[in-house]
Amino acid sequence: MSEPLIRFRDVDFGYDASRPVLSQCNFRLDPGCRVAIVGPNGSGKTTLLHLIVGLLRPDAGSIEAFGKLRSSEADFHEVRCRAGLLFQEPDDQLFCPTVAEDVAFGPLNLGKPRQEVRRIVTETLQPLGLGGYEQRITYKLSGGEKRLVTLATVLAMRLSDGKLV
Ligand SMILES: Nc1ncnc2c1ncn2[C@@H]1O[C@H](COP(=O)(O)OP(=O)(O)O)[C@@H](O)[C@H]1O
Ligand SMILES: [Mg+2]
Repeated sequence: MSEPLIRFRDVDFGYDASRPVLSQCNFRLDPGCRVAIVGPNGSGKTTLLHLIVGLLRPDAGSIEAFGKLRSSEADFHEVRCRAGLLFQEPDDQLFCPTVAEDVAFGPLNLGKPRQEVRRIVTETLQPLGLGGYEQRITYKLSGGEKRLVTLATVLAMRLSDGKLV
C-alpha cells in the first residue's frame, strides 16, 4: 500500500486537562481517498482538522504528514503549503475588501511576483464560476459565493507551487 498522506498515531488532545477531546486517536488518509469525518456536535471533528494543519498540537501521540513526522511550527508550515483547510464560517477566513485581494493573499505571502499572482487569481476564479468577481466586495457576496471564494483562496496555493493535495 502507498504511504499515507496523513497519519495519526495514538493522538491525545484536550483544550484543558480535565476534558479530553481526542483520546488515543488513530487516523490515516491515503492518496486518492475521500474521507468523511462524521460525529455528533462537539465530538472533535474540527479539532482533528486543526491538528492536521498544526493550528493545534497534540498532548501525546504523533502526527505524520506527507511522509514525515511533524511536530515543530516549521514542519506544519510545510504541511499548510500542501493541505488547505476551509473554515466552517467563510467570514473567519475572508478578511480583505475584495475577492482578488483575498485570493492573492496566499500567493503574495509565498513571495510570488504581482504579475504572476494576477494570473493565479484569474485562473483560480474562472473554473469556480467566479470569473469577473475580482473586484467584488467580499462581505457583500452571498453565503454560497463566499464559500467558493474561500475555496479559491486555498486552491490559489496549489497554482502557486503545484503541490496542494
Ligand atoms: N477553542 C476551544 N477552547 C475550548 N474548548 C473548545 C475549543 N474549541 C472547541 N472546544 C470544545 O472541544 C470539543 C470538540 O469541538 P469541535 O472539534 O469543534 O467539535 P465538532 O467540530 O465535532 O463539532 C467541544 O466540546 C468544544 O466545545
Ligand atoms: Mg466542527
